[in-house]
Amino acid sequence: MKNKIIIPSSIDEINSVYNWLELQLKERVDMTLCQTILLVAQEITTNAVLHGNQLVPDKFVTIEFEISSTSILIKITDEGNGIKELPSKKEAEELDYLAENGRGLKLAVLMSDKIEVDGSSTKILFKI
Ligand SMILES: Nc1ncnc2c1ncn2[C@@H]1O[C@H](COP(=O)(O)OP(=O)(O)O)[C@@H](O)[C@H]1O
Ligand SMILES: [Mg+2]
Repeated sequence: MKNKIIIPSSIDEINSVYNWLELQLKERVDMTLCQTILLVAQEITTNAVLHGNQLVPDKFVTIEFEISSTSILIKITDEGNGIKELPSKKEAEELDYLAENGRGLKLAVLMSDKIEVDGSSTKILFKI
């Protein structure tokens, strides 16, 4: 099953992505995995809006959701230049929980089963 949502680049839209994704996940995965996916997706969507599209309202972010019997794939695409480099697992483990910046990608690396950057798309995989 596949589904997607497209949002303009405004901070107000992040909440609608959260609600939409929660609806996709509810009754399909347990609460712990649901919370993990929501947290990671929120960080990556915020990055797409802020860093990728730099809050330009007529640039869009697409969030794709795909579920199979074994996994959930979230693909988030913006209209920017893409993430230059993901932190390694080791760098991610050195996450400073209290730092205001630089936690999104580290959380995504630590909390997902696989993460890949392809141009201005980020694919995040969670095993069910
Ligand atoms: N979608 C994106 N497009 C371009 N650069 C990005 C994107 N997402 C993240 N980045 C880059 O990676 C950095 C680290 O992101 P993150 O770990 O979420 O920390 P923060 O958002 O607090 O800076 C960002 O500061 C930015 O330079
Ligand atoms: Mg961030």
